[in-house]
Amino acid sequence: MDMRQLIENKKAKVAIIGMGYVGLPHAVSLARAGFQVYGIDIQKKRVDSLNRGRSYIGDVKGHELKKVLKTKKFKSFNNFDKLKVADIIIICVPTPLDKNKLPDMSYIQNTVQEIKQRLHKNQLIILESTTYPGTTEEIILPQLQDKGLKVGRDFYLAFAPERIDPGNKMPFSKIPKVVGGITKECTKIATLFYGQFIEKVFPVSSARTAEMTKIVENTFRLINISAINELSLFCGKMGIDIWEVIEAASTKPYGFMPFYPSPKAGGHCIPLDPFYLSFKGREHGFWSRFIELAGEINEQMPHIVMTQAIWVLNLKEKPVRNSKVLVWGVSYKKDIPDTRESAAFDILADLTRKGARVDYFDPFVPQLKIKHRILKNKAISLRSIRYSSQSLKKYDLVMILTDHSGFDYEKVARNSKLVVDTRNAIKSRKHKHVFRL
Ligand SMILES: NC(=O)c1ccc[n+]([C@@H]2O[C@H](COP(=O)([O-])OP(=O)(O)OC[C@H]3O[C@@H](n4cnc5c(N)ncnc54)[C@H](O)[C@@H]3O)[C@@H](O)[C@H]2O)c1
Repeated sequence: MDMRQLIENKKAKVAIIGMGYVGLPHAVSLARAGFQVYGIDIQKKRVDSLNRGRSYIGDVKGHELKKVLKTKKFKSFNNFDKLKVADIIIICVPTPLDKNKLPDMSYIQNTVQEIKQRLHKNQLIILESTTYPGTTEEIILPQLQDKGLKVGRDFYLAFAPERIDPGNKMPFSKIPKVVGGITKECTKIATLFYGQFIEKVFPVSSARTAEMTKIVENTFRLINISAINELSLFCGKMGIDIWEVIEAASTKPYGFMPFYPSPKAGGHCIPLDPFYLSFKGREHGFWSRFIELAGEINEQMPHIVMTQAIWVLNLKEKPVRNSKVLVWGVSYKKDIPDTRESAAFDILADLTRKGARVDYFDPFVPQLKIKHRILKNKAISLRSIRYSSQSLKKYDLVMILTDHSGFDYEKVARNSKLVVDTRNAIKSRKHKHVFRL
């Protein structure tokens, strides 16, 4: 059977490398659509957990995973052997920044090495990890063609960015997929494949266009979040409530899209991906000033929140040292357990360095290990407190960093001595001891 028939008849075997926030929902959707799916991950614990039907990703429920496992359409592996028999390989590995804020391509490089050793005719390779424009063509293609196989004829190569939004209830199949292949044939084959389990597929003219599309989306978010954070500080200086302003501006039926203040844009994507673009820009003699500025504002936000905490404690004649502070919410956004790049790390580390006695509360994150440059080599381990409105009374300050759903924030306000609310979780404006960004 040729690749088209394999895809249309759902006979293509699909290997997904990286069983994280992106890879796992793909695996489940594909298996549900009828494909045979092999999940591959270097973390044995993850593989074992998946094969036992235990999901560690909020958007994939345990019972959904178990249902798919029962059909025998999905199994996970801690080695790369299945790449030999796979017709389609999807790469969903991390693309972080190193400590100098430069792209760390080692995960993609390592994965490509594994694929290269097992590449054979008639395979479709898709990169889904977010990366700078040019990666698929400049890094992956030369490695795979090294064995004498020709792209577009012997094998297919495409980039198809992932756009999932953890915690968002939109079904995976409804998130439109952008696809850009190295050749026209690569784009056609990859488009056909995604069309089997995603409602709307949008082919573009090249892999680099698809790569740029994803980074533009995330750069747009970082810049706008940083802009609203800056405007919120400006409003603060003038005694204007930014939250009321955004609500009012949102009544405009066109031309305005609301973004909200936060203690920092976190997660694995928004604060990092734009720097993949600015890195690549420098190679072309191009300086992305918006990205640098947005990144700078974003990095400063936790310090600004800390300054506010110091100021409100000061109103009560309290120094930070020895004050009891509760950080409410440590995941980077509400209702998910992901703490990557969360402002909570900066703030808990800074509070600790300044001598505060810190606790945190987060129903999604039972424990937290904090390693932070400002703590030098000292790591701190914390466990979430059990929440009761009574427990709030013992804290000099409660800092709401993440507004998880399902809590009565008016009650939080009533039972706290002082609150810094970075998310407008407390809607009423009657509490004189509640301070907003
Ligand atoms: N998390 C999101 O919301 C999101 C959304 C869109 C795009 N992305 C992008 O998708 C990519 C993956 O992100 P994620 O959030 O799923 O990451 P993740 O950390 O949740 O998962 C990545 C997985 O890859 C595994 N892994 C690392 N190296 C490997 C290797 N060589 N071989 C096999 N497995 C390996 C890790 O063990 C981990 O389980 C990144 O490029 C990210 O920017 C993420």
